[in-house]
Amino acid sequence: MTTQTPAAPIAKGLEGVIAGETAICKVEQDALIYRGYEIADLAANASFEEVAYLLLVGHKPSAGELKAFEDELKADRDIPAMMHDKLREGAKLITDGAAVPMDVLRTGVSVLAHMDADCQDNSADANLRKSKRLLAKIPTIIGHMQNAIDGRDFVEPDSSLSHAANLLWMMTGEKPSAEAVKVMDVSLVLYAEHDYNASTFTCRVIASTLADLHGAVCGGIAALKGPLHGGANEAAMEMLSEIRKDIGPKNDAAKINAWMQQAFADKRKLMGFGHRVYKNGDHRAPILHALGRKAAEARSDEYVKLFELGEAVQNIMETQKHIFPNVDFPCGMTYFTMGIPVPQYTPIFVASRITGWCAHIMEQHANNRIIRPRVSYTGPDLQKWNG
Ligand code: CMC
Repeated sequence: MTTQTPAAPIAKGLEGVIAGETAICKVEQDALIYRGYEIADLAANASFEEVAYLLLVGHKPSAGELKAFEDELKADRDIPAMMHDKLREGAKLITDGAAVPMDVLRTGVSVLAHMDADCQDNSADANLRKSKRLLAKIPTIIGHMQNAIDGRDFVEPDSSLSHAANLLWMMTGEKPSAEAVKVMDVSLVLYAEHDYNASTFTCRVIASTLADLHGAVCGGIAALKGPLHGGANEAAMEMLSEIRKDIGPKNDAAKINAWMQQAFADKRKLMGFGHRVYKNGDHRAPILHALGRKAAEARSDEYVKLFELGEAVQNIMETQKHIFPNVDFPCGMTYFTMGIPVPQYTPIFVASRITGWCAHIMEQHANNRIIRPRVSYTGPDLQKWNG
């Protein structure tokens, strides 16, 4: 047998391949649309809870539907007590450098699966119930994990607060300002859904085997962790910290340019830049950049300087490489300005993207065929084991 030659050239990374159909989201050069609504419209006019409902249930909620949904989420924020010790153990592993928050969150969702009476039920009703419970509980996992890292008692969920406000409250034990809540809420709206990105595709592949929703979400978390995907929001901020360390406290244009030229010479991937689909800019990035910069101006010069550094880096990337920032670039600077610990940026992405993932898992289960493509074999020719 000889090596099989593919009939057509293979698109590395499946670039440009249409791998399915969805009614949930449209990602195009010129628009990002969630179930018929444009992202700038949603970021300006819808709360994260409204967007979550839109994605999970399929239509814009009425006032009554929204209230019932918000009440349901608030009532479901507690996590089983047996998870408390696990989160403390996870926090210790993080402090010791043996794990990162995305690992602990993945384990947390895995443990929640065991405690969910609907776990093995893939019916539409059970999947929606599980999706809402995960949406409600993920901020509690993140909050408790951060509390344990910081050595403080667990901050309990506050049912008077929105999803975004409660997330900030649980991580810090401090009531967030209205401005901070707004920035977090919009960032969650922007992160909620993005068609066949790597983590969502992972979720759909897992769901297509008729495995359960929690298992698919664990796969999604594992995929999102990588720095080429969701992990880029942390990596972008780490890169800016590295530049700051290298160039010193001033935003010296010559030094920034020299740093960038060295990065280009080293063929470094600059984190928070580039996108498989958007070649002329990510629709979400300017929305978050504007909000984050406003937050920085309200906070102090130190944070404005961070944004100015980011803008200088962005300018060089755009003018010299024609590569634009994706949403993770302003996200890194924005969450840093809000005082959020860097390793929690990607878990916060999960707190939002759980909605898109679950919508896709439900869509897959509703009209399923196992996702099982072919691959072109490039290994050795046929040989005999005994000679
Ligand atoms: N820094 C430097 N060069 C880059 C970058 C970058 N961030 N992104 C793309 N390029 C170069 C790339 O090396 C390639 O050059 P060449 O043709 O010389 O090999 C050229 O631009 C075209 O790259 P591409 O085909 O558009 O890239 P891709 O579609 O294979 O990968 C990507 C997309 C997002 C993984 C990549 O741009 C990247 O690694 N970016 C940095 C990580 C990042 O910010 N990820 C977040 C993605 S979006 C939001 C999310 O998922 O969270």
